[in-house]
Amino acid sequence: VPAQVETVASLRAALGQWRRQNLKIALVPTMGALHEGHLSLVRFARQFADRVCVSIFVNPKQFGPAEDFSRYPRDLAGDAALLDGVGADLLYLPNSAEIYPSGFATTVSVAGVSAGLCGDRRPGHFAGVATVVAKLLIQAAPDVAVFGEKDYQQLQVIKRMAADLDLPAQILGAPIWREADGLAMSSRNRYLTPAERAIAPALYQVIKDVAAALANGGSVAALLAEGRARLTAAGFTQLDYLEVRDAATLAPVESLSRPARVFVAAFLGATRLIDNVPVDKR
Ligand code: PAF
Repeated sequence: VPAQVETVASLRAALGQWRRQNLKIALVPTMGALHEGHLSLVRFARQFADRVCVSIFVNPKQFGPAEDFSRYPRDLAGDAALLDGVGADLLYLPNSAEIYPSGFATTVSVAGVSAGLCGDRRPGHFAGVATVVAKLLIQAAPDVAVFGEKDYQQLQVIKRMAADLDLPAQILGAPIWREADGLAMSSRNRYLTPAERAIAPALYQVIKDVAAALANGGSVAALLAEGRARLTAAGFTQLDYLEVRDAATLAPVESLSRPARVFVAAFLGATRLIDNVPVDKR
């Protein structure tokens, strides 16, 4: 099992030793309930660093009042065993007072890229993410920090924040890790009933088809309308959005003059799933 630290002081002591040996350090922030997708982030991080530190903190500030903070899956023993298997070097497990000491009053909010998509559906979510990630990056001061492209908007928010605040860590996005049937891995997949799990891969199939048809010159509006109808027909109970956006700025896209991605968020019962794919122009 990787070494574990719980306080900022012990985190900095452990990382400081490596830094003095000129070892390059990667941070992989997570909320635990780890799965193969997270492990792929650790392996990805390893390509850019000599030591990989994984943090686990279920951040209350990024959950809305009606969201799943209290029932978000927690499995520390399972997480530590999985991380050992991929050779993570250090596990940072701050408690909530370490991250949000009493009197905590600061919020980091990132305009622009936080608007639209999940930002509209989850008010305050990206400020909660930016605030905790800013803290983790300041606490650990890693050379690189790795985030999954599944939360693509989150990745753009964090890149913007790091650039704006001169946080020296290089922010890297790692490719989405999928089940054999295409479903993007997510800690929330474990909420799905067997019937919902059988429907879930349609999310990826639809955005993949929309992206392919767009690349072949199809109309954005017509393809999105068709995709929305397919998701409803497949059994998704609520569609938050299906949209095409600029891959860097996340501005809505009407024609494909710049790199774009297709983004989706939809519910199966109480479980909200998101996914995205690039539009690869031929
Ligand atoms: O992607 C996540 O798991 C979280 O949003 C993150 C980046 C660890 C911040 O809490």
